[in-house]
Amino acid sequence: MIDLHAAVEAVLPGVRADLERLVRIPSVAFPGFDHSHVRDSADAVAELLRGAGMPDVRIVSTTAPDGTPGQPAVIARKPAPEGAPTVLLYAHHDVQPAGDLTAWEQDDPFQVVERNGRLYGRGVADDKAGVMAHIAAVRAWGEDLPVGLTIFVEGEEEYGSASLEKLIEEYRDELAADVIVIADSGNWDIGHPALTTSLRGIVNAYVEVRTSTHAVHSGMFGGTVPDALTILCRLLASLHDDNGDVAIPGLVSTEASPLDYPEERLRTEAGMLDGVEFIGTGRIVERMWTKPTATVLGIDAPGAQESANALQPYARAKVSVRIAPGEKDMDAYAALKAHLESQNAWGAQVTVSLDQGGNPCVIDATGPSYDAARDAFAEAWDGVRPVDIGVGGSIPFIATFQELFPNAAVLVTGVEDPDARAHGPNESLHLGEFARVCLAEALLLRNLVK
Ligand code: BES
Ligand code: MN
Repeated sequence: MIDLHAAVEAVLPGVRADLERLVRIPSVAFPGFDHSHVRDSADAVAELLRGAGMPDVRIVSTTAPDGTPGQPAVIARKPAPEGAPTVLLYAHHDVQPAGDLTAWEQDDPFQVVERNGRLYGRGVADDKAGVMAHIAAVRAWGEDLPVGLTIFVEGEEEYGSASLEKLIEEYRDELAADVIVIADSGNWDIGHPALTTSLRGIVNAYVEVRTSTHAVHSGMFGGTVPDALTILCRLLASLHDDNGDVAIPGLVSTEASPLDYPEERLRTEAGMLDGVEFIGTGRIVERMWTKPTATVLGIDAPGAQESANALQPYARAKVSVRIAPGEKDMDAYAALKAHLESQNAWGAQVTVSLDQGGNPCVIDATGPSYDAARDAFAEAWDGVRPVDIGVGGSIPFIATFQELFPNAAVLVTGVEDPDARAHGPNESLHLGEFARVCLAEALLLRNLVK
């Protein structure tokens, strides 16, 4: 049997160099961005998988149900040795937009910079390190892979994976596996691994308010004619009660694991200013993982600086509701829509429309594959056993995998630590933790055949 600790150690410098190469490709799948970069990053991932010895590597795509062309995904396969299980390794090669460039400490978010044991750059953690962890495991094993592998690296996760469900259905036979590893979450803390066993779902919706055919003078007409932006603010304020709990009736809440998330830790991780209070009631992990939350993501209205003294005839907001495990996304959307439409909007026309839904999931993490994963994690983290965590973020297609492959064990792993700042400026990857994630994945493949 090969010494996996030494084998992973030996491949890490090359893995890091290739990670930096991937980060330099700004593969943003959002509309309005140059999607040739997403194609380039799919090509780069395919080349890395071929180079790692995967014999059958293909770039595939399909169209979303609404007809928009899907982004390219990479499927690489190596058949299972006689009697061994097949393992599907998932990650995504698309990334969030860089956002506010002035908030980055580096000039170019798509160049990798190392500081204090971390690599900084857009996508370096979410989720290009997930891609490279899979490649690290394959490189470490070389010719002697003990399991069959299917590596599936998708290209539109950050934009909601609109075509993914169809893609998974179209390539169902190729993707079928006994164990599915989704490397797109994170660990409990630096030095403390975790298995993610629940994720919230998501409902993003637009709320539009119309009051008049045109804007009018706010002095002349103010006090009698209502203003669309003011009404929108009242609607948005109705999403929470005074405690900061979500006030939309009918949404599901469930209980979370007994883990304690110290308030001081949360305060520091989120960079909360002195005096700012936490919102919501109940234990911290429940508020973050198993209760709904509502956020106003953006508002279309005149900017403060350029605004005129006028009553606005129209305003629009995008609202995001994260939904608890056990909720159905379209039930939550119906509850949100009914709630907003039932508010007193002084007779204004209120239109609620769906942008995107995604289901939550819960994983029953019991059985031999989960034991194999826990042992692999404990070995990679020098004896520290993983905890089961929930996360407040969403990976909606996990529910699709669970439906299509009901007998597969789903292991949600990943490289993110609490300071990774995925989606924000100065996203980063902790190099020490990344090395452990790579080792844990190589060890997992061994443990699955033990
Ligand atoms: N990697 C995240 C999901 C995640 C978030 C895992 C937090 C662990 C902790 C993923 O890339 C993501 O951001 N997903 C989107 C899904 C949405 C576009 C449907 C999200 O949660 O906003
Ligand atoms: Mn991700």
